[in-house]
Amino acid sequence: MNNDERLSLAYDYMHYFHKNDATGHDVAHVNRVLQLATYVAEQEDVHDLLIIQLASLLHDTVDHKLTNVDEAIQRLKEFLQKLSLSEKQEAHILNIIQYMSYNNGKNNNIDLSIEGQIVRDADRLDAIGAIGIARTFQFAGHFREPMWVENDSQRIDHNATTNYDDWSPSAVKHFYEKLFKLKDLMHTTTAKQLAEQRHQFMKLYINQFFDEWYFEG
Ligand code: ADP
Ligand code: NI
Repeated sequence: MNNDERLSLAYDYMHYFHKNDATGHDVAHVNRVLQLATYVAEQEDVHDLLIIQLASLLHDTVDHKLTNVDEAIQRLKEFLQKLSLSEKQEAHILNIIQYMSYNNGKNNNIDLSIEGQIVRDADRLDAIGAIGIARTFQFAGHFREPMWVENDSQRIDHNATTNYDDWSPSAVKHFYEKLFKLKDLMHTTTAKQLAEQRHQFMKLYINQFFDEWYFEG
């Protein structure tokens, strides 16, 4: 089996898994991650593109928010065996997919290979900027979270150091608990550069959001 055939099978597996998603983890998200990861890999001169592309395609088929993790991993292992990869390649892809996710910051200290770092950077780039904003509101809508829940303490300071622990769940809370932190968690120089602009755009957006929400004329 050649690499194009492997990627094509992975694409089909991914497509079947994500085709009905309305949480922001849809086929288009995976396609963007694939494209971003490929771009970053080229910029960073990392050559194991097969690992990067397979891990990108399959990265959201194991996620505690979307699936039963144990079952999903088992299914993914069975799928990978069909690709006639080496054991080392299989283990590498599984390792990336299991540890790349943000998972409330719990995986941040786990060392990933450079290929894993690139896929993680790509996934995080798609979580910020204009698309990141759209995905966050899509996710919140799907899980019936409000856009924003106001109370007096929340009006004091809207910068990234705000203490949000006692805020009720909302799309806007997600910017503080995760999205505004992602820029500083990028691994590669290429992703750091892309993240900077997307981060500034989110800040602009949230400022405008609060200006409108707390409109005083
Ligand atoms: P990871 O796979 O790195 O843990 P997630 O799947 O949790 O990342 O998040 C991917 C995207 O889904 C987020 O960046 C955001 O757009 C959306 N999302 C996840 N959790 C929430 C939430 N609690 N509220 C709003 N959006 C969320
Ligand atoms: Ni993802």
